[in-house]
Amino acid sequence: MRVLGIETSCDETGIAVYDGHRGLLAHALYSQVALHADYGGVVPELASRDHVRRVLPLIRQVLDQAGLALTDIDGIAYTEGPGLAGALLVGASIAHGLGVALDRPVVGIHHLEGHLLSPLLATPAPDFPFVALLVSGGHTQLMNVAGVGRYELLGETVDDAAGEAFDKTAQLLGLGYPGGPAVAQLAARGTPGRQHLPRPMIASGNLDFSFSGLKTAVLTRVRGQVLDAAARADLAAEFESAVVDVLVAKSRAALRMTQRDRLVVAGGVGANRRLRAALDAAAAREGFAVFYPDPALCTDNGAMIAFAGAQRLRAGLAATAPAFTVRPRWDLESVGQVTG
Ligand code: KG4
Ligand code: ZN
Repeated sequence: MRVLGIETSCDETGIAVYDGHRGLLAHALYSQVALHADYGGVVPELASRDHVRRVLPLIRQVLDQAGLALTDIDGIAYTEGPGLAGALLVGASIAHGLGVALDRPVVGIHHLEGHLLSPLLATPAPDFPFVALLVSGGHTQLMNVAGVGRYELLGETVDDAAGEAFDKTAQLLGLGYPGGPAVAQLAARGTPGRQHLPRPMIASGNLDFSFSGLKTAVLTRVRGQVLDAAARADLAAEFESAVVDVLVAKSRAALRMTQRDRLVVAGGVGANRRLRAALDAAAAREGFAVFYPDPALCTDNGAMIAFAGAQRLRAGLAATAPAFTVRPRWDLESVGQVTG
């Protein structure tokens, strides 16, 4: 089965074709980063208008790359939520329009399920069950994953997401948007420990996170003194280390609690090098295996939506009516299980 995936939940238009036998045939991404950069964050109305401009040309490009015609597609998957309502509606309308025109099944995908399953597109792919650490701009969650659609929430952030903390810290340090890569780049020139920031909730005894205090601590440092270039780099390095220490400690605790020996990392912050190095070191020390998506598939993309769509369509889980919805808010535990 060949599935066309359409991702339009936020500021990236992602399109891909995934083939159940041959794997990922083609994918393309249009990032709106430049469009939103002047505003320091995503402007929802601009995002949805830009998705309208990008989706159809990108679909043509991906089909050309794969050497396919539209009629070679067996099903269509789109991001149904969570995300920006207007942006989601663009992908949803095009997916359902194509479904009606081509008479093909259409399935709405939970964006985080896409992220969570994206390491299954890499080699080697993890077997179920595993613990997943989902770290994106909007979410920070630990999930106990027994199979496709069998997700148990173990813990999550009580305030800001890890990626959001990176983005806000970048703003405080006068770096651009998106903040994660910018903070990481500055942090590479600094040394953690020279400035001291807290590791929020690291000893809370549960698997929840909190990152808003960390951002406030950075704010106090930035306001309280004039930082030279070296001090800014040290602060960025300390901030990154604080986030990484907490993510690693909670991931290890989740593995112990569930008695799993596989950890899957997904979402934009999963591209962070310090996080990967710290998780790899912990894995080598403690005998668990850690899996990441291909770096290009860490942030939002159409491949993860096409892949999740293929799993769901194969199990006969297409939308039953041509009427469609998007779900700007949607919890992952309620997506429904895939059997067969
Ligand atoms: O998964 P994603 O592309 O979008 C959401 O679904 O939110 O994640 C984007 C988030 C942003 O907050 C961005 O700053 C962060 O991932 N990010 C990073 C890195 N690359 C992206 N954070 C830390 N280090 C990175 N290298
Ligand atoms: Zn995402």
